[in-house]
Amino acid sequence: MMTSFIALEGIDGSGKTTQAALLYEFLSSNGVDSILTQEPGGTPLGLSISQFIKSNRGITALTESLLFNADRAEHVEKIIRPALINGSHVICDRFVGSTLAYQGYGRGLSLDKLVNLCDEACRGLYPIINILLDIPVHTLDSRRGAGNRDAIEASGATFLDRVRKGYLELAGRSPSHWAIVDGSQSITEVSIEIQRLVRPYIYG
Ligand code: TMP
Repeated sequence: MMTSFIALEGIDGSGKTTQAALLYEFLSSNGVDSILTQEPGGTPLGLSISQFIKSNRGITALTESLLFNADRAEHVEKIIRPALINGSHVICDRFVGSTLAYQGYGRGLSLDKLVNLCDEACRGLYPIINILLDIPVHTLDSRRGAGNRDAIEASGATFLDRVRKGYLELAGRSPSHWAIVDGSQSITEVSIEIQRLVRPYIYG
């Protein structure tokens, strides 16, 4: 059986973590073998890196990208690839797209260099489809608690706007591997659209 690697992408507050969990529940309740994982944080190393980055301001963009990719290298070899080989579909909350959007478009690192770094880290294993939950930055404040901003989110609306535009550019450049979903719809509407999008990759 062919298994599929599906990534959910989007700016902080876009709802992708909720949607990744709903997709996992949907597949599980339909008897489809899948795992739900995330970056950063899908491995013990990733959890430590995630906590470190969230609680330390002023880390350089290059350091961030190296840390996220250290997590990715572990995550791909220890969690994602084994799951795919063992017959599970993989739903991943963030993957390479996040590094390109955040450290590339958001923080200004060379996209070409990041593409090479990410390729080393994931050893050429990419999602069959990246689902981008797109939402305008100015609508975010009404959707999340202001007290919950981590170091990256604290970079502000201008930063997140660059990230959002970066995502849209990435999706526009590779339409066969990206799908854009309007994240400002209701949770149910978004989740139905995601279920429709993944169907060909799950059921063939
Ligand atoms: P999360 O809130 O979805 O757990 O993601 C943590 C933060 O890390 C989020 O602000 C996005 C950021 N991030 C990057 O900047 N680059 C990356 O490669 C990844 C995976 C996450």
